[in-house]
Amino acid sequence: MPSQTVPETWFDLQHPDLYRAPHAVLHEMRRTAPVYFSPELDSWMLTRHDDVSGVLRDRRFHTVEEYKKIDALPPEEQRELAPLRRTFLEWGGRDDPAAHEVFLRALKKHFTPRRVAEQRPVIEQMTDRLCSAAVERGDVVDVVNDVAHPLSMSVVCHLLGLRREDVDLGFVLDQSHAIAQLLEMGEPDQLRRSQEGMLTLGAFLAPHVAAARRGERSGLLAAMAGPGTPLRYTDSQVVSQGIMFTVVGYHTTANLLANGLQLLFDHPEQRRALVEDDLTGLPTAFDEMMRFHGPVSTIRRVALEDVTVRGRVIPRGATVLLALLAANRDPEVFTAPDEFDVRRSDAHRQLGFTTGPYSCMGQALARLEGEVFFRILLTRWPDLAPADPEPDWTVFRPLGKELATLRVRTGGGA
Ligand code: HEM
Repeated sequence: MPSQTVPETWFDLQHPDLYRAPHAVLHEMRRTAPVYFSPELDSWMLTRHDDVSGVLRDRRFHTVEEYKKIDALPPEEQRELAPLRRTFLEWGGRDDPAAHEVFLRALKKHFTPRRVAEQRPVIEQMTDRLCSAAVERGDVVDVVNDVAHPLSMSVVCHLLGLRREDVDLGFVLDQSHAIAQLLEMGEPDQLRRSQEGMLTLGAFLAPHVAAARRGERSGLLAAMAGPGTPLRYTDSQVVSQGIMFTVVGYHTTANLLANGLQLLFDHPEQRRALVEDDLTGLPTAFDEMMRFHGPVSTIRRVALEDVTVRGRVIPRGATVLLALLAANRDPEVFTAPDEFDVRRSDAHRQLGFTTGPYSCMGQALARLEGEVFFRILLTRWPDLAPADPEPDWTVFRPLGKELATLRVRTGGGA
């Protein structure tokens, strides 16, 4: 049971309209209750940049939280969801710092800026192909479903070493969407759909893992299972990591591309500034998009012991929600935090990829995808404009929103 059930101030974190304008509430929370216990979410929420970074680096907090939802279910449902629980724990060796270290040592070298830069021509080709196919269907293009989602999933599949002819992109996207149900707060039905997606995607990946063992695949599958790999992963562990990449590397990147474009539509003067600078400011603009509306709004951790933060005791076993979207608007760190400014000098301090031992391994790749995507779209379609009066947001709790579609007029560009 939570130790403090009656907070001194109460914030309605489940208000259905909160996602539209969360920052007034989050500013107030950061000012008056920076370590806040939410009874509805049964979680502690941290909103200050320094507290969030501190917990991300603190080994007294454990990174795997999702299994708690399964463990709280009746025994029969727990048994039913055992494969999902195992897959979560196997992801990136997150269950055990030593296993995580092994994972990092084996795979981090594939994500250095230099290695990632080698992917540029492939990513450019994929983006061009998707844009051309989309305009062939008409002058109105749905950037989310016609470009951003297939692009970021194609990049992950390529990275894994899956051959283009082996991948039915629609199928992989469907499974990954089902798995992303775990982004929600974890109702049993969502967990069941998530498990179904994992099992289906796992069955698709298994023969490719077997082929990687025989030396017939390249990319990350070869790095994890190929002859000469230093990793002693079982096939099931390699499949779990493959599933992880299709979830963590895909959904986030696709949302950043779509949210970022929406931000440029919402702030035409910033789009002009980017174009005036010949798009040389895209790396900073990327950080600013991550800061202003990054794809990951909150990250969960579990306290392994009682931990005192700003005089409040977060009890052992409690869930902590690190509000990245609030930390990214902390006025102690960012000047005029509610202004979207693609030339901002402090944008690189954003925490959208987190920091510390578990921070995003794929950030150089995500940055490259962003650079290629915005360069191609803004150059190819200089008159690009939204086709609908209002953005088509869908909400995921708590505090997250993403675009279900983003229909644009390409302005006749090829
Ligand atoms: C804009 C796009 C992206 C965002 C916002 C993002 C964000 C994140 C976040 C918040 C985490 C969790 C960190 C934590 O628990 O402290 C994470 C982990 C991870 N991400 Fe990303 N990510 C993105 C793209 C990618 C891509 C393209 C890949 C690779 C294909 C990738 C691979 C990973 C991996 C492997 C981890 C686990 C790292 C570990 O446990 O050591 N990410 N990412």
